[in-house]
Amino acid sequence: MIESCTLVIFGATGNLSRRKLIPSLYRLDVAGRLPERMFIMAFARRPWDQAKWMDEVRTMLTDAVGDEFSDEAFGRFSGRLRYFEGDIGDVAAFQRLHAQFGDGVDLPTNIIFYLSIPPSEFGTVIDSLGNAALLAEQHGWRRVVIEKPFGYDLLSAQSLQRSFNKYLVERQIFRIDHYLGKGTVQNILVFRFANLLLEPVWNREHIDYVQITHSETLGIEDRAEYYEGAGALRDMLQSHLMQLLTLVAMEPPPNMQSESLRDEKVKVLKSIRSIPQNAVHAHAFRGQYTRGAIDGKPVKGYLEEESITPNSTTETYAAIKLYIDNWRWRGVPFYLRTGKRMAESSSAICIRFKEPPHQLFRDTHLERMRPNWLLLGIQPQECLRMELQAKVPGAEMRTRTVGLDASYRAKHEKHADAYEDLLIDVVRGDHSLFLRYDEVEWAWRVVDPIIKVWSMERDFINTYAAGSWGPRGTYRLFDREDQFWRHALNVEAGDVEEGARQNRNTPPL
Ligand code: BG6
Repeated sequence: MIESCTLVIFGATGNLSRRKLIPSLYRLDVAGRLPERMFIMAFARRPWDQAKWMDEVRTMLTDAVGDEFSDEAFGRFSGRLRYFEGDIGDVAAFQRLHAQFGDGVDLPTNIIFYLSIPPSEFGTVIDSLGNAALLAEQHGWRRVVIEKPFGYDLLSAQSLQRSFNKYLVERQIFRIDHYLGKGTVQNILVFRFANLLLEPVWNREHIDYVQITHSETLGIEDRAEYYEGAGALRDMLQSHLMQLLTLVAMEPPPNMQSESLRDEKVKVLKSIRSIPQNAVHAHAFRGQYTRGAIDGKPVKGYLEEESITPNSTTETYAAIKLYIDNWRWRGVPFYLRTGKRMAESSSAICIRFKEPPHQLFRDTHLERMRPNWLLLGIQPQECLRMELQAKVPGAEMRTRTVGLDASYRAKHEKHADAYEDLLIDVVRGDHSLFLRYDEVEWAWRVVDPIIKVWSMERDFINTYAAGSWGPRGTYRLFDREDQFWRHALNVEAGDVEEGARQNRNTPPL
């Protein structure tokens, strides 16, 4: 049974809340998935009253959910809304908040605190909640939801965790990585473990290399302050892309319980070969976008964006090569890359298989057999595709690449935002799609040497033109001439390889 609760959102008037949290809660309500008695309380600084907050929420929803908005549904949803005026720096505000859950007040005392605030403020809020006895589970449960980045490096993550440990146990903490809420990401596990066919080839014997890419055409929008301190490595790679890597590489868990899943993911992270500081340049590459064009329209370079330090070396592109030193993956490179203001917005896992051991068609028109690829498109193109070689009809022995398509969503099936599933999991207390502290810590261990080296090298950063596929020198991460970044999911392998060759030889725009 799904229990009654109160969700308190810190930073409820902010960007995440407007774009994701409130719209997802509304959709969940419309779908009848929220507990009947669930209240959503905004904890925010602005001197608003209940009526003003409802107006705000109405605007948020009409902006975010479009046709799904209806006055009738909003009428029901608004019955759940509460506004609490308070400043997170004001200790007295937390005492007043405590009083909201006292005798005679009709709010459920199972409470979720969603910290939709800058990570630098997590510690303060947890202290204030703890001191106001709002985290003690005397009357109902208490859960805290936080968003990445969980710290800025290994040390700060450890210190953040210590501040949590004063008042909370792991069971109460829900660390969101919204990538885990994406249907296509969850499908990686189903695809791997619900099919017998794949498991025998899912290893170093058959897989040549794995690429995980998240590229976006967007720049840093209005997040200069956050992004300057984070950069692409912390913003995307240490979190989302590393999670994708664990799902691709993990062993089958004994069951689908959250701890079993998370145990297996941690094993992968622990097995990643550590990168000594003097090998960082062989394993990692960073870049920053300069002026260019996206969709034919000129866009600014990073240094020209508002509130960016004029000589900033914050990376907007990061690519790394990792090895997983275990029985299954030893020797298989995993390439992870991410960038802002890239040529396309796309997230995908591309797995290249080895070439057949014997070039049987050597004496025919086939110059060389092309390797198979397995493509897992996460967004915007959701696909599961295996590329194989087949004979072109006719007398000659020629081949072409064909795709076996197991794409995941039928046209009539609706796309749900990752936050919908994640929010309902918090209400249910299911941790499967949330990060356990040891995952966070091990992921920091992987990137920490890179962070250290890059933070010392403040005089120079490679650049790439906005609208391109990133800095050119990134190819030096590859060990062999025939390895390349796969940018496209839907072209024939011949074109892909040709495109890659051109990409390698063409200097950035
Ligand atoms: C966020 C990053 O976690 O993920 C953003 O902070 C990035 O910089 C975003 O744009 C990408 O998420 P999605 O769901 O749009 O791929």
